[in-house]
Amino acid sequence: MTFIKTDNLTFKYRDDEPEVVKNISLEIEKGSYTAILGHNGSGKSTLAKLLCGILQPVSGSVIVGGYLTSNEQDIYKIRESCGMVFQNPDNQIVASVVEEDVAFAPENLGVPPKEIRKIVDDCLKTVGMEQYALHSTYKLSGGQKQRVAIAGVLAMNPSCIIFDEATAMLDPTGRKDIAAAMKKLNKEKGITVITITHYMNEAIEADRVIVLNRGEVFLDGTPKEIFSEVEKLKSVALSVPQVTELLYLLQSDGYDFPKGILHTMEAADILENKVNLKSIGGNDR
Ligand SMILES: Nc1ncnc2c1ncn2[C@@H]1O[C@H](COP(=O)(O)OP(=O)(O)O)[C@@H](O)[C@H]1O
Ligand SMILES: [Mg+2]
Repeated sequence: MTFIKTDNLTFKYRDDEPEVVKNISLEIEKGSYTAILGHNGSGKSTLAKLLCGILQPVSGSVIVGGYLTSNEQDIYKIRESCGMVFQNPDNQIVASVVEEDVAFAPENLGVPPKEIRKIVDDCLKTVGMEQYALHSTYKLSGGQKQRVAIAGVLAMNPSCIIFDEATAMLDPTGRKDIAAAMKKLNKEKGITVITITHYMNEAIEADRVIVLNRGEVFLDGTPKEIFSEVEKLKSVALSVPQVTELLYLLQSDGYDFPKGILHTMEAADILENKVNLKSIGGNDR
């Protein structure tokens, strides 16, 4: 089932400037996990904001969970069903105590206090921050703050969450925690996840990768399909996962390797096999 559908979606910030999102028509399946890649300025954040109704199309349309984002009376339903997590957790945290921060949205929606207690406990548990409920938000690490920000979005009970470079400001541990949280939300809670990232190792976890270039969809496919296109990705200033690059380079040297290898262990097995073949006098290419 389709959850988000865009039709010839086009956007520009100012009349006298070029379009930053051009004629994008795509469908995002309910419960899917999509990564969006693209060089800086390719329109990823703009597209994300269009998908959850923060920005309105100049032409074309966006439908989220059956509602057109251009219908003003439906905008709250859209905002509730499609949340966003941004790069800097400091800009998203509104309260000084963790549990108050997570309670902020349901309180504003007028949810009864008893239910709020349960929502806050559940959401903090989902992101592994339940033991920090009474901690000060400002003392947390970047990764912990980002998990609280995710809990705050979860408190709205969204069907979809868009992460806009949500791991970019974090240290490697924080980045791993947030990547794990995204995967868990998708696999265990069935939340539709869209993640914009520069980290290829995060993109390979997705079911689908969409590459934007100059406001247009440049590539769209499974991680294996997309990362098989090493030259196309390089042509738009993107990289591929390290192991994919290694096998690609060896392949350019004339070795015969399958394309689109994404995982380290998979590459290790292939290389080991090749070495074994060579040591028993087999074909070394
Ligand atoms: N608020 C804004 N006002 C005017 N131009 C903007 C604004 N935000 C982004 N842009 C421009 O729109 C283009 C796409 O930006 P953005 O969607 O942020 O790309 P990305 O997230 O892929 O880096 C860029 O040229 C950028 O300078
Ligand atoms: Mg951006």
